[in-house]
Amino acid sequence: MTTVATVILAAGQGKRMKSKRAKVLHSVAGRPMILYAVETARRLPSDKIIVVAAHQAEAVKDVLKDRPIRIIHQGRPLGTGHAVLQTESALAGFNGPVLILNGDVPLITVETLQSMLKIHGNQGADLTLLTATLPNPEGYGRVIRDPDGGIRAIIEEADARPDQRAIREINTGFYLVNRPFLFEALKELNSDNAQKEYYLTDIVKAAVRRGRKLFAVPAPDPDEVMGINSRVDLARTEKMIARRIAERHMREGVTLLDPETTWIDADVVIGRDTVLYPNVRLEGTTRIGEDCVIHSHTRLTDCRLGTGVTVKDSCVLSESAIEDAAVVGPFAHLRPGTVLHRGAKIGNFVEAKKAELGEGAKANHLTYLGDAVIGKGVNIGAGTITCNYDGVRKHATIIEDDVFVGSDTQFIAPVRIGRGAVIGAGSTITKDVPPDALALSRVKQEVKKDWAKKRKKKEKL
Ligand code: UD1
Ligand code: CA
Repeated sequence: MTTVATVILAAGQGKRMKSKRAKVLHSVAGRPMILYAVETARRLPSDKIIVVAAHQAEAVKDVLKDRPIRIIHQGRPLGTGHAVLQTESALAGFNGPVLILNGDVPLITVETLQSMLKIHGNQGADLTLLTATLPNPEGYGRVIRDPDGGIRAIIEEADARPDQRAIREINTGFYLVNRPFLFEALKELNSDNAQKEYYLTDIVKAAVRRGRKLFAVPAPDPDEVMGINSRVDLARTEKMIARRIAERHMREGVTLLDPETTWIDADVVIGRDTVLYPNVRLEGTTRIGEDCVIHSHTRLTDCRLGTGVTVKDSCVLSESAIEDAAVVGPFAHLRPGTVLHRGAKIGNFVEAKKAELGEGAKANHLTYLGDAVIGKGVNIGAGTITCNYDGVRKHATIIEDDVFVGSDTQFIAPVRIGRGAVIGAGSTITKDVPPDALALSRVKQEVKKDWAKKRKKKEKL
């Protein structure tokens, strides 16, 4: 297949987003929007990939830093034509077709670009456009054709007359242009239009004027070419990508009980025979092993789950590692740095942060474990709290293997409990406990016989 050079336009602010953040940095299924165009372009035989940036260019650069991408600054973004013109010296020496695409159209597939490339070559075209016919063409440039079907121009909506606005064939913003013609045409652009911008779309008129070979390829699926200009478009695209991602996982052997309400970010990995209940959200770089069950209203962000893990309803887990056969929830909150080793259990209303639970350890009810290392087989009773913060610094609680912690215990960190020790319920533990000892720190119970009866009599109750 022909080698292309790719130019991705990402310099605009995206005014219609009404955002502090540049449009192409907005997240779609957990990934900055620009990465979709970049990753799709990388799957084509490419001589080079150039991203044109201006608005928040440093942040765009940062998102792309591990990829073989050249970034060109547009300076003041004066329009899509002006943006492409900035790539002239970067493309000097390249004589094949230049693929130009907008950074705000994330759903495009590599197959569509490949077929466009094939047609461009077979037709010997100078300029090939990808167009689409939409029920509602609002917001897009319209394709103006001759009565005999030949393409004459692209008219931006802002410049279109009412009869032109009625045209439903639109410019998708994907072009293949032979390099020599591209820069000849770009140099002739002017900004004599409603937006006072140098429109890339005006290269179509230049091609017609010069009698260059112009070709339009219809997009196979109009959804693919949907551009994101507003938050409404963003939500619609997010939904379509979510559906694609869900279907990919189902095809790979994951059960989604309700794909419509399951949100899985683009980079999440899920093993076979894992079951996701309705309203589950899997974010970031989360990786889930095989045979796991994730119940409803649970959100996992940047987590690692082994095989056969169960996360019950309504849990929030982030940056945590859960090994095989561990069980979490319902209503648990695992904050960054939590590690549950094989078969460990975290029950309802338990919060953990930078806490490690050894194999088979359990904290089943109403507990806070922070900055704690808990050994194998430890039982943490209901209402246990690690008092890890003294108002200035954080301190560690270390509980060795097979310790039994009675309910309603507070560990005043730093403190270490030796292997096999027992902590009596209701204790406030301020000092280290040696292995196999019993530690108990509660006030001795007093019992006053018949006290209540006597009071009743006295008060005439
Ligand atoms: C553009 C097309 C329109 C097409 C639509 C498809 C033009 C003039 N119009 O309109 O015909 O139907 O895309 O989605 O090209 N950008 C720059 N530098 C600039 C201006 C924009 O890099 O100076 C970038 C933006 O960041 C964006 C892309 O170019 O990624 C498109 O810009 P946008 O303003 O969204 O153009 P549309 O109005 O959508
Ligand atoms: Ca756009």
